[in-house]
Amino acid sequence: MTANSAAWLDRPFADLAVRAAPYPLPGPGEIVLRARAVAVNPLDLVKQSASTVMYRWLPLPAVLGEDVAGEVVEVGSGVSRFRIGDRVLAYAVGMEKGRNHQAEGGFQLFPVVLESLAAPIPDDMAFEDAAVLPLAVSTAASALFQEDQLGLRHPVDGAAPLGQTVVVWGGSTSVGSNAIQLAVAAGYRVVTTASPARHGRARALGASEVFDYRNPTVVADVVRALKGSDVVGVLAVGTGSAEPAVALAAGAGAKRVALASPSVSFDALRGRTPLHPDFLRLMARLVAGNVALQARCRARGIRARFVWGSSLMHNEVGAMLWESFLPDALASGRYVASPTARVVGSGLTQVQVAMDALRDGVSARKLVVLL
Ligand SMILES: NC(=O)c1ccc[n+]([C@@H]2O[C@H](COP(=O)([O-])OP(=O)(O)OC[C@H]3O[C@@H](n4cnc5c(N)ncnc54)[C@H](OP(=O)(O)O)[C@@H]3O)[C@@H](O)[C@H]2O)c1
Repeated sequence: MTANSAAWLDRPFADLAVRAAPYPLPGPGEIVLRARAVAVNPLDLVKQSASTVMYRWLPLPAVLGEDVAGEVVEVGSGVSRFRIGDRVLAYAVGMEKGRNHQAEGGFQLFPVVLESLAAPIPDDMAFEDAAVLPLAVSTAASALFQEDQLGLRHPVDGAAPLGQTVVVWGGSTSVGSNAIQLAVAAGYRVVTTASPARHGRARALGASEVFDYRNPTVVADVVRALKGSDVVGVLAVGTGSAEPAVALAAGAGAKRVALASPSVSFDALRGRTPLHPDFLRLMARLVAGNVALQARCRARGIRARFVWGSSLMHNEVGAMLWESFLPDALASGRYVASPTARVVGSGLTQVQVAMDALRDGVSARKLVVLL
């Protein structure tokens, strides 16, 4: 039997440790990949830094990792879209509730993924570029298109512009840069925020106007630019983005806000127990911030909901994105892998190195490890 190995999170706050993992069997509708590239996400940092309060349903030792690109080595019963040898990108959902946690974690040589959350990689796209997409594009699609979120029209080939506007706060994040592309593909005008060095990239992805989110007058500036526009929703991406996004929605008359990020960062908690004063302070700020935000929303008639990136696997948005939209859009070049991949190194031991680098901060880059 082929040997598998994984990068394991054994204990809260521990570095990932590389060792053997069971070789998985695919269930119905599942495929086994030989992973060739994986990307790291803030979500992986959250579980490592705050596993005592976040993702409590995910037992340790755990195999983290959501973004995988690789070759199909086995297909389960009922799989019809892929064959052994196909190059695919896939969203590995091992961290989600009710899943086969270890087998479906992305940070291993042979992860199991769902056929329904996978798409072919075009011949001219490298594994490291494909690996930047899965969680980010899924989160962006869940936020934009689910009826319980912004409820936008789905991407339609050759659709005429709708004359409606969507605001994406955090257009240089992985989620934001995918949201720009998806909303534009669906026919919306997109106004976004990013640091000035990333304005060109946001425009290249289709944004009409870009504002510096660090500018103290940014909310007023965006509201002024939106005057007279039919603003159908605001997507808030980035720690601390919820408050300005809600203020902006209130100023621009938008009634729906999708919140991708918590209002506090959990990164500083690494090594802190749940009874540590830092931990308690952060949780108190998180709860108080959310209560105040929801009160402001109620007063303005705004519906602001947190997005869960994997929720599309339970509704029609998953099939729309992974089966109908992405395969053609990637193959034709209408949709590009964004943000740009930065390869940190090769081998599972480099996953922790990539997570440490992500904790230090990135700008419009996805950190990728080749396997
Ligand atoms: N709810 C979910 O299911 C879900 C799923 C995935 C991600 N997320 C969350 O979404 C956020 C982004 O994740 P990601 O993987 O897309 O991030 P990422 O690519 O690692 O984000 C890096 C970018 O964040 C931007 N940024 C940082 N703080 C910002 C702020 N306050 N406003 C706007 N932009 C800001 C920086 O922009 P500049 O370089 O331009 O300064 C940088 O380019 C994180 O908070 C993550 O936890 C949530």
